Amino acid sequence: MSEAALIDGKASAERLRARVAEVAAGFESAAGRKAGLAVVLVGEDPASQVYVRSKGKQTVAAGMASFEHKLPADTPEAELLALVARLNADPAVDGILVQLPLPAHIDETKVIATIDPNKDVDGLTPVSSGRLALGLPGLVPCTPLGCVMLLKENRGDLTGLDAVVIGRSILVGKPVVQLLLQENCTVTVAHSRTRDLPAVVRRADIVVAAVGRPEMVRGDWIKPGATVIDVGINRVPAAEDGRTRLVGDVALAEARAVASAITPVPGGVGPMTIAVLLRNTIVAAHRNAGIELADGAL
Ligand code: GUN
Repeated sequence: MSEAALIDGKASAERLRARVAEVAAGFESAAGRKAGLAVVLVGEDPASQVYVRSKGKQTVAAGMASFEHKLPADTPEAELLALVARLNADPAVDGILVQLPLPAHIDETKVIATIDPNKDVDGLTPVSSGRLALGLPGLVPCTPLGCVMLLKENRGDLTGLDAVVIGRSILVGKPVVQLLLQENCTVTVAHSRTRDLPAVVRRADIVVAAVGRPEMVRGDWIKPGATVIDVGINRVPAAEDGRTRLVGDVALAEARAVASAITPVPGGVGPMTIAVLLRNTIVAAHRNAGIELADGAL
């Protein structure tokens, strides 16, 4: 069998951003203002700083307004909750994203639950996740939606396929399960306590790996012809020079020899996350402004 195709998340993300930019221009004409996204960063986590900068740039490039709020690591929880309440009330803000993880003294669940579900472009509030579980329309977490968009682009209709999701986080594992169920997959959720994980993964037509363990999924776990979505972004030491490189949760070269298609790291799922965030923001802006969004525009 020939080597698996690499799924080009960068190209898909570019196409999605171009569609968002078109819709954002239409929104601005109709609403008389730009759609707006507020991103809140508490502390100085280097990876989070990179993401937040990138989000700001791409928001502006798509023709939307970006509001960045950077707070020191020792910000009291009450102050963060008050900021979220102000953003909830601000008519220029259509979407709110509080970058995770938050410093340990802040209750993440409480902060997320304070976000107005109509502005929950991260799809993490109890209302959004409840809607997702019930199959009702609502805002859906960005990385999971990006994974399913890539899968549908790659395989078309997913009906009846066996999907194994490795990981059960609120950010990726649990929402991706709901989305795959909506696509009529037979879904298995595996996690750190799963017995004989390789045997479970070997059943899968679709593997979504979201565990945060470098190259944990090996080539001989993959069913020939499977499609592999690698959500992991792990920084590992490279050569002797002390530099680091990014690897996924899947051993790419090994898996490539068996799978039919696989997302590389970097350049696979990663670029989709911000593109979907922009999509969610423009969707929320239309709903909040009472302006209809043409079916299939995004
Ligand atoms: N940190 C890593 N990924 C995410 C994400 O999708 N949303 C938020 N809020 N924080 C993150």
